[in-house]
Amino acid sequence: MTHILNKQVSQKKILITGGAGFIGSHVVRKFVTTYPAYKIYNLDALTYAGNLENLRDIENQDNYTFIKGDITDDTFIMNLFETEKFTDVIHLAAESHVDRSIADPLAFAKTNILGTMVLLQAFKKLWQDDWKNKRFYHVSTDEVYGTLGESGLFTETTAYDPNSPYAASKASSDHFVRAYGETYGLPYVISNCSNNYGPNQFPEKLIPLFINNIIEKKPLPVYGDGNYTRDWLYVLDHAIAIDKVFHTGVNTETYNIGGFNEWKNIDLVKVLCDQMDEKLSRTKGESQKLITYVKDRPGHDLRYAIDANKIKNKLSWEPSVTFEEGLSQTIDWYLNNSIWLKHVTSGAYKTYYDKQYNK
Ligand SMILES: NC(=O)c1ccc[n+]([C@@H]2O[C@H](COP(=O)([O-])OP(=O)(O)OC[C@H]3O[C@@H](n4cnc5c(N)ncnc54)[C@H](O)[C@@H]3O)[C@@H](O)[C@H]2O)c1
Repeated sequence: MTHILNKQVSQKKILITGGAGFIGSHVVRKFVTTYPAYKIYNLDALTYAGNLENLRDIENQDNYTFIKGDITDDTFIMNLFETEKFTDVIHLAAESHVDRSIADPLAFAKTNILGTMVLLQAFKKLWQDDWKNKRFYHVSTDEVYGTLGESGLFTETTAYDPNSPYAASKASSDHFVRAYGETYGLPYVISNCSNNYGPNQFPEKLIPLFINNIIEKKPLPVYGDGNYTRDWLYVLDHAIAIDKVFHTGVNTETYNIGGFNEWKNIDLVKVLCDQMDEKLSRTKGESQKLITYVKDRPGHDLRYAIDANKIKNKLSWEPSVTFEEGLSQTIDWYLNNSIWLKHVTSGAYKTYYDKQYNK
């Protein structure tokens, strides 16, 4: 029995999409280092958000392969699946920034909806006569649920009610994954996670943007009155949750992932300012003076909060890091990785692929 299990394990060829991005890079590292018997393929188009410098430490591992490619290119994807015969997919590739989705919604429909469908088609074409020991894991967001009032939590049965083009595109992709499960029997799991923070996040999102601005003593633009509320999860805890869902989640089920950790934006920014003042040996209160309130984002959801009790009770996962610890580690990472930050803010990270792979 053990022998058979080991054999199955060693035959796993997992395609992780979006592995050069923020969350994807932590997931790729986790799988490459924890499961040497798996073959891990990282497929990423290297858009502005994809940065192979995130994976420098594992890029020469025997069980890791990087593939540059676009999930919306159906010919390329069909051929790739036909050649590599991936047994599993962990799908993270997406356009992920709400503000960009407001400026260019079509790009979000293309990558997030069409791209997911192309992957589903390729997976179906390859395995529809043999779904055994295969899995399509779709990584999604809590934003599909829309907004909450002052109270309540999103559960796995909360009706979808997306408000931004980003959220609508993710909601649509979730529906297509479910539809492929219902219609063709495709074995899938979905998880919907709250806001992530941690090392390697592109400094357009709140926490890394503000860390960078505090370092450079630039204004900290807070939307509206700052009372927007989000649940925050340390990215390494998300990667651990993805590992759990991938290995022990039940097919056709959805798992909400969250940090049990709600913050109003303005309170979070103040804590961040205070921690940074201490770490940068600045006078307490100095960085808070950089806070400036800016015109609200259209369709801004008031509050997201996740009920993560299903994954906690059924899959024995819960966050391992408190927010204060996670934030402190995140700030330290950005302070200790000023070259990464410089390359990202200057655009120099884009040349890494050519240097590394087109020698
Ligand atoms: N960041 C969060 O707080 C959060 C929370 C919940 C869920 N999610 C979901 O997790 C996933 C990853 O989010 P992230 O924050 O790491 O995003 P990210 O923007 O940092 O990374 C996305 C990655 O996808 C790649 N990509 C984009 N378009 C592609 C295409 N057409 N083909 C191939 N690759 C492409 C990019 O190059 C990049 O490496 C997304 O699906 C997102 O919806 C994110």
